Amino acid sequence: MAISLPLNDFPQLSRDPARLPRHVAIVMDGNGRWARRRGLGRNEGHRRGKDSVRAVVEAARELGIPYLTLFAFSAENWARPSTEVDFLMRLFHRYLLTESKRLMKRGIRILALGDTERLPPRLRHVLAETVEATRDNRDMTVALALSYGGRQDVVSAVRKIASAVVAGEISTDQIDSAAVERALTTAAMPDPDLLIRTSGELRISNFFLFQLAYTELYFTDTLWPDFRERELLSAIAAFQMRERRFGGVTPG
Ligand code: FPP
Repeated sequence: MAISLPLNDFPQLSRDPARLPRHVAIVMDGNGRWARRRGLGRNEGHRRGKDSVRAVVEAARELGIPYLTLFAFSAENWARPSTEVDFLMRLFHRYLLTESKRLMKRGIRILALGDTERLPPRLRHVLAETVEATRDNRDMTVALALSYGGRQDVVSAVRKIASAVVAGEISTDQIDSAAVERALTTAAMPDPDLLIRTSGELRISNFFLFQLAYTELYFTDTLWPDFRERELLSAIAAFQMRERRFGGVTPG
């Protein structure tokens, strides 16, 4: 069953696949502030944030965006109070359990990025099961960045490449941008065309580092629990107004 998007309110938005971002990456921020403003506990913000995840995944799928990465938990988020960390782990677990049927029906493949070994065994298990169950889905890929850090990703890529050099599998002059890309956890995806960060913070916060070289950045004051279909469409419309030059010049 297709969901209906409020496309009439965005007449400038083109659904031409050549003009849509192939990969949208999102830093979902502001759950805590959303809750505080309503006199609620932070976890209520995360709970509402899960509804935004569903709405944005469905909208992106409906629009025809092939890759979506959601920065759900950073390598540094382990430093949060254990009650909040535990709540988030249970929330991710519940999300995967309750969404798996819907993901299958929509042809959505789930990938996991990050140091998933650090996740609680129960979550790791259902994550691995979901990745396996959805691996042949072709309509869209949703990558969940869990315990992910951009620097850690680069460091791990450097280690892999160094090991390959030590083993004599490659020489140092074969190390190029493509070789680094292949060693990153995002090897299976194109670089993001569009990065969205909610809640008014103007930082990358150790998300994708190598991968963002030519990504268009979109910052919005909207807090993640309020970020739904319309906000995604606004971000895509803004993206389509940008002129991407990749370091070159515009002809004419
Ligand atoms: C940042 O807001 C948000 C997080 C660290 C957690 C993100 C988790 C969700 C959106 C829940 C659902 C996710 C999935 C994948 C099902 P914050 O808590 O730092 O907000 P604040 O800056 O206002 O305190």
